[in-house]
Amino acid sequence: MKALLLAGGFGTRMRPLTERLPKPMAPVGNRPWLEHLIAGLKEQGIEEFVIAVKHFPEKIIEHFGDGAKWGVKIRYTNEPVPLGTAGAIKNAEPLLDGRFVAVNADIVHRADIRSLVREHERTGALVTIGLVEVADPSQFGVVEQAEDGRIVRFVEKPPRDEAPSNRINAGIYIMEPEVLEAIPAGREVSIERETFPSLIAAGRRVQGADIGGYWMDMGTSERYRRIHWDLLDGKLELPLAEQERGGGIRIGEDTEIAQGAMLVPPVLVGSRVKIGERAVVGPYAVIGDDCVIGRGARVTHSILWDRCTAAEAAQLNRCIVGSGLKIGARHLLHEAVVSVITEAETI
Ligand code: GTP
Repeated sequence: MKALLLAGGFGTRMRPLTERLPKPMAPVGNRPWLEHLIAGLKEQGIEEFVIAVKHFPEKIIEHFGDGAKWGVKIRYTNEPVPLGTAGAIKNAEPLLDGRFVAVNADIVHRADIRSLVREHERTGALVTIGLVEVADPSQFGVVEQAEDGRIVRFVEKPPRDEAPSNRINAGIYIMEPEVLEAIPAGREVSIERETFPSLIAAGRRVQGADIGGYWMDMGTSERYRRIHWDLLDGKLELPLAEQERGGGIRIGEDTEIAQGAMLVPPVLVGSRVKIGERAVVGPYAVIGDDCVIGRGARVTHSILWDRCTAAEAAQLNRCIVGSGLKIGARHLLHEAVVSVITEAETI
C-alpha cells in the first residue's frame, strides 16, 4: 500500500515559521516532522510514498530526493494552483494504484495504520477515516457515527455545545481507488467539506475508526509548542538522536556545556551546541543543533531551531525561534514567535 502525504498547504496559522517553509518540515524534537512521519509509516510496512507539495516544494524535494537515504521510494506531485485536500489527492491519481493511505502531513501522531486497514477490510468501506477523541472539538471536523461506526454526518468546527460527538477527523484516511472517481479534477476541492459529505449522501460506506496512540494537529504555534512539551513529558514517543542522560535531560553529540551552566529538566539539547557559563536552559526547552547559548543567557519554555544564538544574558521565555536567528545580548523575548528571511540577522 502506498502513502500519499499532503504537504502543500501554506500553513498560514503557523506564520511566521511557515513563511518560507512547508509546515510538515518544521522540526519536532530537532528533526523535520516529515522525517518522523515517513519513518513511522515505514515501520508499519509502507515503503512507497507520494508527497503532494506546493508551498516551497524544493524544501521537501531537496531534503528527501528519491527517498533512498530513508530506505523508501518517494515521488512528488505539485499543483499549478493549490487544489485543497481532495484536489491534491485527485492530482496524485497517476502515481497511485490500488488502496492507499492519505495523511495530512502536519498531523503529529503515532497512528496504528495496520489496525485501520483491518477495520477497513472488515467493514468493506470505500473510505475509513481515522478518528480521535478530543476534549474540545470546536476547532475541528466532528463526526456523527451510527452504531456500526459508519459516519453519517460531518460538522465543521461546531460551537462546543452543538458538537454531535467529541470524535474528530484525524486527517488519516484509508481509501479505495474508486474515491478518486468522486473527486472533480482541475479545481480546489476540500475533502472534509465536499468529498466526504457527498460520498455519504450517495450512500457510500465511509467508516470511522480510532487511530489509537498520540495525536496532535500542528496547525498553530500554540499546538506546535504543546507537541514539544508532550515529547519532553514522554506523552509523545519519537526516536530521538539525543542521548538520555537521566532525569529528563537529553543531549546530542559534541555539545559543550560550560561549568556553572544549568540544564533544568525536562530539556532536549541537540548536537554541537555551546552553552556558556551561568546560562540556564529549561525547564521545557528544546535547543536545535549548532545553537549557541551565551554566558548568563536563560531559555525557558522555548523551542530554538538549529543554528540559533541567544547571546550573553539574553532571556527567552515561551518563544519559538526559527533557524539561524541571533537574539542579541541582554534582549528579552517573551511569548515571541520569530523567524528570518535571510539568515545571520540579529534582533
Ligand atoms: P493553514 O493555512 O494554517 O490552515 O494550514 P494548511 O495550509 O496546512 O491547511 P490545513 O491545516 O487545513 O491542511 C491540512 C493538510 O493538508 C496539511 O498537511 C497541508 O499541507 C495539506 N494541504 C492543505 N491544502 C493543500 C493543497 O491545496 N494542496 C496540497 N498538496 N496540500 C494541502
